[in-house]
Amino acid sequence: MAVNLDQALFSQSTGKTVLITGAARGIGAATVRQFNNHGANVILADLTPLKDAAEEVIRTLAHPDRAIFISVNIVNWAELTACFEEAITKFGSVDIVIANAGIMESHPVLDLDAVDENGRLLENEEAGRVIDVNLKGTLNTLRLGLHYMKSKPEPKGSTKSILLVASTSSYFGGTGVTAYIASKHGVLGLLRASQIVARENGVRINAIAPFLTPTHITAGFAKRWDEAGLEKNTPDRVAEAIALVALDPERQGNCVLVAGKYLRELEDSRTKLFPSWLGEDVTGFMAKAMQFFVSIGGYVLPKY
Ligand SMILES: NC(=O)c1ccc[n+]([C@@H]2O[C@H](COP(=O)([O-])OP(=O)(O)OC[C@H]3O[C@@H](n4cnc5c(N)ncnc54)[C@H](O)[C@@H]3O)[C@@H](O)[C@H]2O)c1
Repeated sequence: MAVNLDQALFSQSTGKTVLITGAARGIGAATVRQFNNHGANVILADLTPLKDAAEEVIRTLAHPDRAIFISVNIVNWAELTACFEEAITKFGSVDIVIANAGIMESHPVLDLDAVDENGRLLENEEAGRVIDVNLKGTLNTLRLGLHYMKSKPEPKGSTKSILLVASTSSYFGGTGVTAYIASKHGVLGLLRASQIVARENGVRINAIAPFLTPTHITAGFAKRWDEAGLEKNTPDRVAEAIALVALDPERQGNCVLVAGKYLRELEDSRTKLFPSWLGEDVTGFMAKAMQFFVSIGGYVLPKY
C-alpha cells in the first residue's frame, strides 16, 4: 500500500516532548533535527561515549534550549527508567518515544570456522549483544514508554505515540546477517504483540522499516550500493517518515517501509493478503481462534 506522508502533521510537533534512543548520530540524530526544527523538546538518549557527538548535534539545532542529552544504555532497566524520569522532570512529560537505538554484528554469527584448538565451535557473544540491544533494549523502551505515557484512549487517535525502528530485515532474511535479522523480526513481534495494551492505554505504536541508509552500520558497503544504482535513503528521509508516522493520529499498528522513493505500509496490507497467503479456510480458522482468545479474556498463561 503506497503511503503519502502529510507534511502538515509537523505542526503537531510544537511543544511536544520526544525521547529518542540512539540519538547521537545517524537516523536518530536526523530524527532529533526533524522534531526540534518543528518546535519539539527532544531528549537525546545514547551511550556515554556518544556524549560529545550528541552535544554537537544539540549545538546545531534550531532550538538547542529545548534539547538535552541523557546518558543511557537501553539494555539497563534502571538507567532507562532514570532517563524517562529525568526527561519528565526537565520537560513535564514525554509525548512521543522513538525506539531507534540498534546495533549490527561485526562478524558473521554463523561462522562455522570459529573453532578452538580442539575443533569445538566457539560461542558468539556478539550475537547475544545484538539481540540484547535490538530486542531487549527495544522492549525496555516500549514498556517504559507505555508506563510513562498511558492515558485515556482518545476517539480521534491518541497523541501519545511510540515508534519502533524496525528494518527491511524485519521482513526479509536474505542478507544472512543472522543476529540482526532475528532481532529485527523480534521488533515486529513487539509491534504486533503490543497493540491491545497500547489501545487500552491510549498510546499508538507503529514502526518504520528502513532499507539501506548511509550511516555507521552500512559504511562498509554504502558506496558500492550507490554505484549499483539501487534505491537508497538519506537519514533525513527516514527521519521525516519516523516523525510523520509517529505524529499521525490515524496510524496504529502500521509499519512503513522506507526505501528511497518507495514508501509502503506493510502491516495492514499483509492482513489483507491472508486469504491468498493462507487460504480462506486457514484465514477463517485463525479469525475464530482469535475470537476464542478474546472471549476468554486473553491468552491464559501457564503456571510454573
Ligand atoms: N542504516 C540503515 O541502513 C538501517 C536500515 C534499517 C534499520 N536501521 C536501524 O536504524 C536504527 C539507527 O541506526 P543507524 O543506521 O542510525 O546506526 P548508527 O550506528 O549510526 O546509530 C545507532 C545509535 O544507537 C546507539 N546505541 C547503540 N547501542 C545502544 C544502547 N545499548 N543504548 C543506547 N544507545 C545505543 C549508538 O550509540 C548510535 O548512536 C537502528 O535500530 C538500525 O537497526 C538502520
